[in-house]
This record gives sequence, C-alpha cells and structure tokens, in this order.
Amino acid sequence: MLRPRWLVVALAFQSACGSSLPQEEQCVTAVYSTYNYITFAGTPAGGLWDTRCQNPLKVASIYAASETYCRDSERAAGLAQLASFCEEFGHVELLPRDAVAENLTEDAIRNMRIVDYLELSRGDPVETPVLISASYFNVMFKTLDSWQYVSWSHHAFGYIGYAYWAAILFLGMASHLYSRMIRSRKARAENEVESNNYPTTSTSSLNQWGTEVAWMYLYKSRGGTRGGRLLALDWPNPTDQILRYSADRTGVMSFVNFPLMWLFGGRNNILMWATGWSFATFNIYHRHVARVATLQGVAHSIIYVVIYIRVGFRRRSTHLDFLLIFDSHSIVFEGHEYWQYLWPAVGVWVLDRGLRIIRLVYCNIHIGVTGRNKVQMTRSRMSYDQDADVIRLEVTPGTKVLRPKPGDYYFLYQPLQFVGWENHPFTVGAWSYEPRSDRSPVNPPGKQDGVLDVSQLPLLSDNLNIEENQDEFQETAEKTNVSGMNLIFWIRPYDGWTQKLRQECLRSKDQILDTTILLEGPYGHNFPLWRYESVLLIIGGTGIASAVPYIQDHIRRSAGGGEISEEETRIRDIELVWTARQTAFLHDVASRELLPALGREDFQASFYATGVSAAPPRRDLAGLGCEISTGRPHIQSLIMSRACDASAAGSTLAILVCGPAGMADEARAATHLAMRQGYRSIKYVEESFAW
Ligand SMILES: Cc1cc2nc3c(=O)[nH]c(=O)nc-3n(C[C@H](O)[C@H](O)[C@H](O)COP(=O)(O)OP(=O)(O)OC[C@H]3O[C@@H](n4cnc5c(N)ncnc54)[C@H](O)[C@@H]3O)c2cc1C
Ligand SMILES: *[C@@H]1O[C@H](CO)[C@@H](O)[C@H](O)[C@H]1NC(C)=O
Ligand SMILES: *[C@@H]1O[C@H](CO)[C@@H](O)[C@H](O)[C@H]1NC(C)=O
Repeated sequence: MLRPRWLVVALAFQSACGSSLPQEEQCVTAVYSTYNYITFAGTPAGGLWDTRCQNPLKVASIYAASETYCRDSERAAGLAQLASFCEEFGHVELLPRDAVAENLTEDAIRNMRIVDYLELSRGDPVETPVLISASYFNVMFKTLDSWQYVSWSHHAFGYIGYAYWAAILFLGMASHLYSRMIRSRKARAENEVESNNYPTTSTSSLNQWGTEVAWMYLYKSRGGTRGGRLLALDWPNPTDQILRYSADRTGVMSFVNFPLMWLFGGRNNILMWATGWSFATFNIYHRHVARVATLQGVAHSIIYVVIYIRVGFRRRSTHLDFLLIFDSHSIVFEGHEYWQYLWPAVGVWVLDRGLRIIRLVYCNIHIGVTGRNKVQMTRSRMSYDQDADVIRLEVTPGTKVLRPKPGDYYFLYQPLQFVGWENHPFTVGAWSYEPRSDRSPVNPPGKQDGVLDVSQLPLLSDNLNIEENQDEFQETAEKTNVSGMNLIFWIRPYDGWTQKLRQECLRSKDQILDTTILLEGPYGHNFPLWRYESVLLIIGGTGIASAVPYIQDHIRRSAGGGEISEEETRIRDIELVWTARQTAFLHDVASRELLPALGREDFQASFYATGVSAAPPRRDLAGLGCEISTGRPHIQSLIMSRACDASAAGSTLAILVCGPAGMADEARAATHLAMRQGYRSIKYVEESFAW
C-alpha cells in the first residue's frame, strides 16, 4: 500500500491537528472486528478469514450490523474492501448478501439477539446470527480511529526524521553550490582562497547537532504516547495501551530509518557529490541512524516481551487485552504498510552494489581489440617489511584509463580467497608510470641518476636502471603489454583482512608475493591544496599515503608538467611533519617516494619515530637534509608558529591532517586556537582512515 508521500504527510498533519479523517471503510472494519470475539456455530468453525468470509452465521451478522450502524456509502466501501481482503489474505470469497438474505430481512434483524461487549464467552458458540450493541460498536470504532491516529503519528514521526535529514542535506548542498559559484566567480582574483568554503567545520558542527537531535528524536519516539486521545477511551488497561503504542512507535521508527541507513552507508552516494561531504562524514550519519534504529528495534522487542508476559498472567480475565494486542495488530499489518520503508532501502542497496560491480569491472579488466593479450587483468605484488611493519602493495590496474589524483582511495579485494567479497579501503600513496621492476620493491634505493624527471615519472621503482634492466623490461612488457602504471599502497596490518595479507607475505619467499588484488574505485575527493601559499602536512603512520600524492602533485605542477588545463600551483612552501612508530617505515618512504621532494627549497620535512626500533637506520637521512627525532612532535606549537608565519607574510595556509584520532583531535584544537587568536586564513583539512 504505497501512498503518495504528500498524502501521507497531509494526513499525518491532519491527525496531528486533532481532526482525524476516518475513512469510509472504517465503519465496516469496526463491525467485523467486533465479531472476532464471538464464536459462531456452523462451518467453517475456525480461521480468522475463513469464518469472517464464509461462516453463514457470522457473515449474516456482519451484514446485519453493517446495515444497522453504517451509512450506505460506508457500507458499500467497507464491504467491497472486506471482499477484497477475503481474497487477498484469506484466499476465499466473501459470501454474498443473497446467500444469507433469509436472515437479513428487516424482521430478522429486528429480532436478532443484541450482544454487548464481554457478554458472550468465546468458548461458547452461538447458533444464530447476533447483532452487536451500539456501545460495543462505538468502542471498537473509536479504538480503530485512535489506532489509525496513532499509526499515522508513528509514520508522521518518521517523516519528521526525513524532513530533518533533508534540511541538513539541503544546507550542505546549498553551501557546496555557493562555494563553487564563489570560486568560479573569483577564479581570477588573487585572494580567492579565503572564500573556499569547504564545509569541513560546518560538517562537524552539523554532526554534533545531528547527534543531539537524533537522541531527542529517539526520546520523543519512546515517550510519544502521551496525549488525551488515546486514554480518552473507556478501555480497561491504559498501561497496556501505552506499552502497545510505544512498542509500535519504536518498531515503525526503526523501519523508517532503514532507507536512510542504506543511503548514508553506500559508497556510491550521490549526496557525497552534491554536498561535497566525504564518505567519512556520511559514515558518521550512517552510524547515527543505525544506532538509533537499533535502539528502537531493541526497545520494540523488549516492550513486546513485557506485553506478552503481562497478558500471559491475565489470560483468563479478559479478552480485551487480546483485542489490543493481536487483532489490531493484524489489521495494521494487513496493508503491509511497513514495506514501504524497505523497498527504498533495497533500491539503494541494489544501485550501490550495481555501481560497485561496474567499478570493479572498469578498474580491473581491459578488453583489447588488437594484440595477443586481448583481455588484461589487474596484477599486483605485495611485500611485507617486518621492521616497518607495513605491507607495500603495487598494483598494475587492468585498465589503462585510470588517472590517479591526490585524495583517491580504492577498495581492495582478494577475489580468490574464501571471503573474496571482503574489501577494505586504502589510499593511493603514490603511482608511477614505469613498468614494475621484477626486483624486490623494498630494496633500498640505488641509482637515481638520470631518472629524476619527476614531471614525467612521478615515482620510480628505485633500483631500476633502465639499461641494466632493458631485457627484463622488454620481456615484462611483452608478456603483459603493460601501459606502465603502478599504484602503490601502504597497508598497516591489523587483525583482520590486513593480517591475512601479512601472513601470506611472510609465508612466501623473500616476503614478496605476486597475487591477485582487485581495485574498486576511485573514491575520495581531491582537495585543492595547490591554491594555498603555505601548506602544512601533519601525518601519522600510513597516513603518509594521503600526503605523498599532494607533494608529487606540487612538484609536477611547479615543473609545468601537468595537463594544460591544470591550475598552476601557488604553493611557496610545504612542510611535512610525519610521525610513525617505526624508523624503518620513515626511511623507506623518505628514500623512495619522498626523495624527489627532499632536495627542494620549497619543501621541508621533519620525521618523528615514536617506537623503540631495534633495527638500525637503513640509510642516513641527514645527507638529505633531514633527520629523525624520537618522540612526538608538539603539534600545537607547530601549528601556532606556522599560522603566525603565514599571517605575518599575509599568505594563506592549509593544514592537512591524516593520522590517528588523537593526533587529529590535537591538530583540530590547535587550529581552532590559532583561528581564535586572529589567524583567520587557515584551511583545515582532515583525512580519516576510520570507517
Ligand atoms: C578512506 C580510507 C583510506 C584508508 N587508507 C589506508 C591506507 O592507505 N593505509 C592503511 O594502512 N589503512 C588505510 N585505511 C584503513 C584500513 O582500511 C583499515 O585499517 C583496514 O580496513 C583494517 O582491516 P582489518 O580487517 O585488518 O581490520 P581489523 O583488524 O578488524 O581492525 C583494524 C582497525 O580498523 C578498524 N576497522 C576495520 N574494519 C572496520 C569497519 N568495517 N568499520 C569500522 N572500523 C573498522 C577497527 O576499528 C580497527 O581500529 C583507510 C581507511 C579509509 C576509510
Ligand atoms: C439463518 O439463521 C438460522 C438460525 O437462526 C440458521 O439455522 C440458518 O442456517 C440461517 N440461514 C442462512 C442462509 O444462513
Ligand atoms: C600492446 O598494446 C598496444 C596498444 O596499447 C598494441 O598496439 C600492441 O600491439 C600491444 N602489444 C602486444 C604485444 O600485445
């Protein structure tokens, strides 16, 4: 029963304003509901729909009461609906009026026995048609009316939730659009940067706000049964009513959250594009909604258990508990109203999965028209370095069309494993346009001479000496016809999927392994760091994967080697502050991917090792103009002095942070402090590896 949304909202408002709108069918519904508590002799003797639609005495009674209490139009609508329910839910026909007409003459109805509520015991079948009393009918009618009101209000609360999220998203989209417009208008103006209103901070305050309102919303939903209407009925047990309504309210609210949960949790979420908010932000929303829905679901179940227990104790005392709990239940569920919340969720899910599959195929399979290898698949090689405790993964994508950029991340799959669908996000740390060297990728760098044209080859497999490896190169190229693009990932092994990768490496010779890893992506968004004059990168651990591409990008842009359409870099100085536990990891990356940057005047790096490393440094970085300090950097004073310098020079400053949550908190607080002290033109960007 999918109603148009506006109608639902309109009806919900109407009920909320106190004037409920009983439908024409409701009169007959009230009539046949009252007869559930009366047992009739004859056949069929059992079954809700069988007796309601086929037992001649019961059907005659329903017709008689409908004729007594309902207007003509109500009777027509109600009986037509009953007939359709009989077919839909009972798979039987409703006995036509003619079949029982002999008991529906005016005389017959006038002489029928009138029964009040609780007058007949269910265990004691009546042998004739009976007419319910007016008061019994009225109680039932009002119950259904209230029920309908409450049901609408359950849904109305749900739509309030939707309206809330719609408002937040609308603000996000408006601000995104506005900042884009501003940017394009000021594209040539010098101080364009300051107007770059990326919604990072507004997102987090919205998050905060979101949490509070979400809790309020939950609280309301659980307490939502107050109000005289429900208790106005002269009904035996208000506590049961309250429990029942709370149970349903929480149940409905839980369902209402489903589409939001899937919408916010998907990777291919159009809202990310529309608002400019990241996957991480939507993931926070996703979790909020999921938590609220879970709590509501749990509350729903607990309250139902309480109701069942309470009813169980009083089983014999009254039928009316059953009326509230079981019969009304069936009336509401007849319409499958709750499904309306499931289908959008299913739709969102299917769309997201479909797009994921498309991305998987797009990234990993190339079907050529010429050549020997018509079908090209992604190939990869990983190696684990015990001292660095990092897996280095090099992937040559099957497709030739990927153009990596800073901020990109991919979900990685190991399709030939038992849980081949399991996948985890990793940031592209670097890329190179050279064929993969068949040597160990973790070897310390050898000859860099002559291959430092980073504008063409941002990353070089270090020990690749072109002349020496000419044959090997040729061979590889022939075998695979690689276009020569490698994506490099640094993966920190934890306890799950990443741990398995580590073990596979450890089991293989030299801890290097050629394996099949598929990419799904690219995801992520590219922050225009190059528009800022001063850049500070505060990095922890494998967070370096977020920083290196921006450094490479700067080098490429300043060499003018980028595409013509690309903006020139405005960066005058970049400072990298990188903290890692293992000295070996710092060494590895510094001497390979960071090497081209280390000699530059506009680049400064400081490295901090926090772990006690047994391994001696593999290479002295002092020669490269930088050294490794032990312990942690003082992030606050770093940011303050940077902000101060930038402010004195009148330049714009961007701070990119990617590291553990504690580090990000510290950096965020320090930036906030700096801004409060008047250093306004700071842009704070945070990349998070939490998901
Ligand atoms: C956009 C993005 C980019 C990333 N880039 C990198 C990268 O370049 N290098 C890198 O080393 N890591 C990166 N990560 C983190 C990486 O995805 C996780 O460390 C990895 O998934 C852990 O896998 P596991 O099964 O070994 O995790 P586990 O051992 O099960 O857990 C390890 C840690 O990851 C968290 N985690 C794992 N799975 C989930 C999940 N489904 N939901 C929430 N938290 C989870 C756990 O809370 C725990 O802190 C990135 C994450 C994101 C979101
Ligand atoms: C009419 O009611 C009588 C009992 O009063 C019953 O025996 C008879 O079967 C009913 N007729 C029909 C057609 O249901
Ligand atoms: C390699 O690919 C190119 C197109 O990129 C094609 O022209 C060439 O024939 C291919 N060579 C082999 C050996 O498959």
